[in-house]
Amino acid sequence: MDLHTPVCDLLCCDYPVVLAGMGGVARSELVAAVAEAGGFGFLGMVRESPQLIAAEIAAVRDRTARPFGVNLIPAATKPALLDAEVRACVEGGVHAVTLFWDLSAETVKRLRGAGVLVACQVGSLEEAIAAQEAGADILIAQGWEAGGHVRGRSGLHALVASVLGAADVPVLAAGGVTDGEDLAAVMRLGAQGAVLGTAFLATRESFAHDYHKRRIVEAAPGETVHTEDFHINWPPNAAVRVLPNSVTRGARGDPHARPRQVVGADGDRSIYLFSTDSPLRSMTGDFEAMALYAGQGAGRIGEIVPAGDRLRAIVAGAMSCLPSERRLHAPVEPGDREAASAVCYAGQADAAYMGFAPADELATELNVLLEAERAGARVAARIATETDDPGLKALARVIHADEVKWCKALFHALLDLGVEPSTKVGDFYRNAMTIAGVEARLAFVNRGQGWVVRKLRTLGPRVRDDALHAMLREMLEAHERNIDDANTALAERAPSA
Ligand SMILES: Cc1cc2nc3c(=O)[nH]c(=O)nc-3n(C[C@H](O)[C@H](O)[C@H](O)COP(=O)(O)O)c2cc1C
Repeated sequence: MDLHTPVCDLLCCDYPVVLAGMGGVARSELVAAVAEAGGFGFLGMVRESPQLIAAEIAAVRDRTARPFGVNLIPAATKPALLDAEVRACVEGGVHAVTLFWDLSAETVKRLRGAGVLVACQVGSLEEAIAAQEAGADILIAQGWEAGGHVRGRSGLHALVASVLGAADVPVLAAGGVTDGEDLAAVMRLGAQGAVLGTAFLATRESFAHDYHKRRIVEAAPGETVHTEDFHINWPPNAAVRVLPNSVTRGARGDPHARPRQVVGADGDRSIYLFSTDSPLRSMTGDFEAMALYAGQGAGRIGEIVPAGDRLRAIVAGAMSCLPSERRLHAPVEPGDREAASAVCYAGQADAAYMGFAPADELATELNVLLEAERAGARVAARIATETDDPGLKALARVIHADEVKWCKALFHALLDLGVEPSTKVGDFYRNAMTIAGVEARLAFVNRGQGWVVRKLRTLGPRVRDDALHAMLREMLEAHERNIDDANTALAERAPSA
């Protein structure tokens, strides 16, 4: 659990390891396997029908109760289909959507308005700023090492560093991340986690055809190529990273020649030579000639394993590389708490008799607080990105940072109690998002913080553990400070009577 970063609270997952929404490849079986192992998965639903999206959402839910998301590509999708896809995501109640390629601010706005968390994958600093201004909750910095469509021209580490310099929201890194060392390296730079495509393609649960999986396992280091040969279905001048084949070697002729040649089928749909379709379980045809997407890490993938095993190996590897950095993300140190615990002379006394909250009640209350803080963090993040008022922006950022800090502290307190932390976001978030206007929303946040204060005042005296008691006390004082600051800011902006 020690790799936990604030983005885990936004995504409601245990580890900051995210399955990329690979079109065709990331279907329900893979998404559910990643979620069950503690990561977060996106269904790759580019240009898919709303019926398939609804069916895949239901299929994930049949396999896991954990939250997950959907990936869409507005620029490669006709507007009417995109509209129906977005509706399917909202009606399906997915936790998050990732968007990629040309930014569609309208789609970001629509999803956010419906309470869906939005992550935008970007290939440059300019794109990152535009996505953040459009309201993205999370940025995915995609380096040019990435498999599939490659948006920018920067290497991953340089891009992550530059995006971090401008980002107010969590940044995840994508492109060539294959093992624990790769994950640790991007987290050391300040990324809150990573998005992986190729490493999860080469797993038992992925919907890629065995031919594609085998080619990845057989790939040599440095073997991938960056090409624009596979272009049918996408906006022009879009580069992809693939394994070399007869197409990239030029043996299949001019990619733009007519008539188009059919090289396979997916049910009754023809697969054309030079199209962006990659070989899937459901396809037949000449797989060698299709787009064999692979990131630069492909040469380090040696076998097809269950997705959960791959995720656990990556997490374990990263944890062994990050002995001290891990603590950067942990405002409350379990060790500190133990050291601070005073001798309890009433240790043998019955907790209920002494007026202390019984363990199950304490766990419930802490989980309620965790859900509320997670909701508060999300609303504050929205206010910080939406407002043009520098004072309110700064205040919202402080509130956001505090709420994330308390999420993390509550999360660890629950783990210390041996209780599974809730992965839900409190209803407060949805209610807050229905309120128009930044100031009205901030006033609503203040009411929410007031509720937390009242709860902490009641709960605090009933907590027996000294360290937990001190943590809740600190949390109470921080909330009182933030309430005062927000009240002052709102009073200064109130129209004079
Ligand atoms: C087979 C494959 C299909 C992909 N399809 C999509 C897609 O439909 N939408 C998208 O946003 N990204 C897609 N990507 C790119 C990923 O989002 C991500 O940037 C990439 O996989 C990261 O690099 P890696 O493959 O080296 O881990 C795809 C990548 C692969 C390998």
